[in-house]
Amino acid sequence: MQERLLDCLTEINRLRIVKIEKVTRESPSVKTFAFNDEWCSTAEPGQFVMMWIPGVDEVPMSLSTIGQHGLSAVTVAEVGDATQALHQKTSGDLLGIRGPFGTGFSLVKGKTMVVGGGTGLAPLMPLVEALVALDARITCLLGAKTKDELLFLDRIKRTLSKVEGKIVTTTEDGSYGSAGVVTELAEKILAKERFDMIYTCGKEQMMYKVFLLAGRYNTPLQASLERIMRCGIGLCGSCVVGEFMVCKDGPVLSYDELLKISDEFGKLKRDFSGREIPV
Ligand SMILES: Cc1cc2nc3c(=O)[nH]c(=O)nc-3n(C[C@H](O)[C@H](O)[C@H](O)COP(=O)(O)OP(=O)(O)OC[C@H]3O[C@@H](n4cnc5c(N)ncnc54)[C@H](O)[C@@H]3O)c2cc1C
Ligand code: FES
Repeated sequence: MQERLLDCLTEINRLRIVKIEKVTRESPSVKTFAFNDEWCSTAEPGQFVMMWIPGVDEVPMSLSTIGQHGLSAVTVAEVGDATQALHQKTSGDLLGIRGPFGTGFSLVKGKTMVVGGGTGLAPLMPLVEALVALDARITCLLGAKTKDELLFLDRIKRTLSKVEGKIVTTTEDGSYGSAGVVTELAEKILAKERFDMIYTCGKEQMMYKVFLLAGRYNTPLQASLERIMRCGIGLCGSCVVGEFMVCKDGPVLSYDELLKISDEFGKLKRDFSGREIPV
């Protein structure tokens, strides 16, 4: 059994070269890159790949599509060297990937709330699609700074049209949906309705507020965390938070797990040298 596990891990951890099949611009600073990879098409929602941009760097990216019509994808915000180099790539260019890695979201069939902002919506997309396949009742709260940065709206509308689902949007500048932040909406809804699970991914301060709400309204929670990742398989320690390696035990952690790291979650993370810095 252990041998089989090791074989699998070795295979998943092998760098594979994939061809970019399609590039889609999602917003002024975000693009989606679709590719064909057998391992990724069997990933769980919430898992991530280590993506090598040749000659630049290898960085963690959540899967925003999992094996739809043979393709999987990552949705990438342009923030620094690696992501800028990735944004220059077009169809036919080659990338390296390892993975999928980590513990993804566990699916709950009942009434669920999904709270996401910015590229945090990337891992939530395959989650929402998997929940729809389970016939879950889903309330999606989507937040962004401006209308331009609101990702995946059409895809979520299309997906939720198949079930009993609700989409509520907020933008900080009020250019689409209600003006404000997504956690204010979450609080209003949680004060009136009960949910079997809250799923969240986005800026850590936002997720921390959702964590506090989950505690106040006694609702189970799963949140997807970001920490510096190098190996992606629990060896280098760069992603450690308390007793957890976020690359292996996460990136999705439950309410009880987050409670164990509440002195760091929402407050501190580590930089590349291991020094603690504010999130
Ligand atoms: C599990 C996981 C899933 C992620 N999913 C997505 C996604 O779907 N879409 C997306 O746009 N971004 C995602 N990120 C963040 C993405 O990895 C960083 O934006 C990217 O590494 C930045 O690299 P850079 O060279 O462009 O920028 P840099 O200038 O090198 O870094 C900018 C910031 O990005 C973060 N970062 C840089 N390198 C790493 C690293 N090796 N590991 C973790 N964080 C790093 C740091 O906070 C850093 O300050 C994810 C991160 C993690 C940990
Ligand atoms: S990235 Fe190396 S232990 Fe998590």
